[in-house]
Amino acid sequence: MKSSTPEIQTADPAPPAGPEKLLEIKARALMPCVYHFYKDPPQIVSGSGCVLTDHAGREYLDCYSGVTVMNAGHCNPAITEPAINQIRTLQHTTTIYLTEPILRLAERLARITPGDLCRSFFCASGSEATEGAMMLAARHTRRPGIVAFNNALHGRTRWAMNATGLDMWRGDPFPLPHVHHARFGDIDDLERVIREHPDEIAAIIAEPVQGNGGIVAPPDGFFPRVRELCDQHGIVLIFDEIQSGFNRTGRLFACEHFGVTPDIMCLSKALGNGFPIAAFIATEPVARSHDTPGASTHGGNPVCAAAALATLDYHESNNLAANAAARGEQLRAALDRMAGASPRLGEPRGLGLMLGLPILDPANRTPDAARCDLLLEALKDRGVLAGKTGPGRNILTFMPPLVIEKHQVATLIDALEESIPLMDEAPTG
Ligand SMILES: Cc1ncc(COP(=O)(O)O)c(C=O)c1O
Repeated sequence: MKSSTPEIQTADPAPPAGPEKLLEIKARALMPCVYHFYKDPPQIVSGSGCVLTDHAGREYLDCYSGVTVMNAGHCNPAITEPAINQIRTLQHTTTIYLTEPILRLAERLARITPGDLCRSFFCASGSEATEGAMMLAARHTRRPGIVAFNNALHGRTRWAMNATGLDMWRGDPFPLPHVHHARFGDIDDLERVIREHPDEIAAIIAEPVQGNGGIVAPPDGFFPRVRELCDQHGIVLIFDEIQSGFNRTGRLFACEHFGVTPDIMCLSKALGNGFPIAAFIATEPVARSHDTPGASTHGGNPVCAAAALATLDYHESNNLAANAAARGEQLRAALDRMAGASPRLGEPRGLGLMLGLPILDPANRTPDAARCDLLLEALKDRGVLAGKTGPGRNILTFMPPLVIEKHQVATLIDALEESIPLMDEAPTG
């Protein structure tokens, strides 16, 4: 059999369609649920490191990383080149064939994840990872129940959406039974839920640091107590590290801050640095319950697995954990200073480069979503893209690529200092 690779033609790229045209297509061709940030969103056409460029050639400092996916920076050649090589060699087979990258990645995850986590199942999105993890817990315990926390986000599939505790992301008109919520950080409330559902609970699922819930770390001692409760009641502990993992908080996994290891951990986002890959990894006894046939068409795809391996190499050889901690301290100190000087700002929160700044109505210290939007727009106008999270949509959120440099954090701080006074000028209400 003869194979030939055609010459690759590189034509001049077409000029960007522009935001107006794209918004018109979006309005008729995407489901109405797909929303975007900004009144006049720019068309993003390219990225490099921490910088995104729009259709008009304007550059933005990216402080949200595509919701903490691009931890190793945009279009990082140390990751894209191995992925391109893999694309040229073997692009896809699915899990029913034996290929090497997925197995190298599984071995690597077993080595770098905490505790006795050792067997992975690969899939393509975070929702699939949390859904699969909860299914595994149900199979393992032969129980139907899940306890999740208020303000958690676990995904869009049915069970993951039901476990989600943020109203805006709970779109299921027919909520599933056996899914219960406890207050995040409140061990008494968690004990109450377990007590009220004896022998029903298969798993407790938690983000070690809540992301979309508003960048919330639990009080000291919370997770050690959760671990004890799980052991006492035969409940599987699932950590959803999809957002907080891969050095975002200054440690490889956020659970390391709390000294607690789960029975199953869910991973995605920054694992592939822009290539869609996700996994859940379990301890040997739990994983052994996943014994009927299972496959995932795109799970562990060789290109995504090669990208993930290169991503992990890059994180290690460039010590992104240390940079996240150092740049996080730099930004946190500035946020603390600004919060102390403005009644419109609440106490900054988060760990490493997963930081949130509450925007409040000074009259009653309640969430001020309108002024958070105003700040988001003002930052964009100054060339900085930040995020917003929290049940009140008022937590201005900073999760830049972990390759961010000191002078770039200073640029963000300057833009924020210029923008904060604009909140006083805006009409109330
Ligand atoms: C903590 C957490 N879990 C799960 C998900 C769902 O991931 P995906 O959008 O890849 O399905 C997200 C997405 O933001 C998340 O932040």
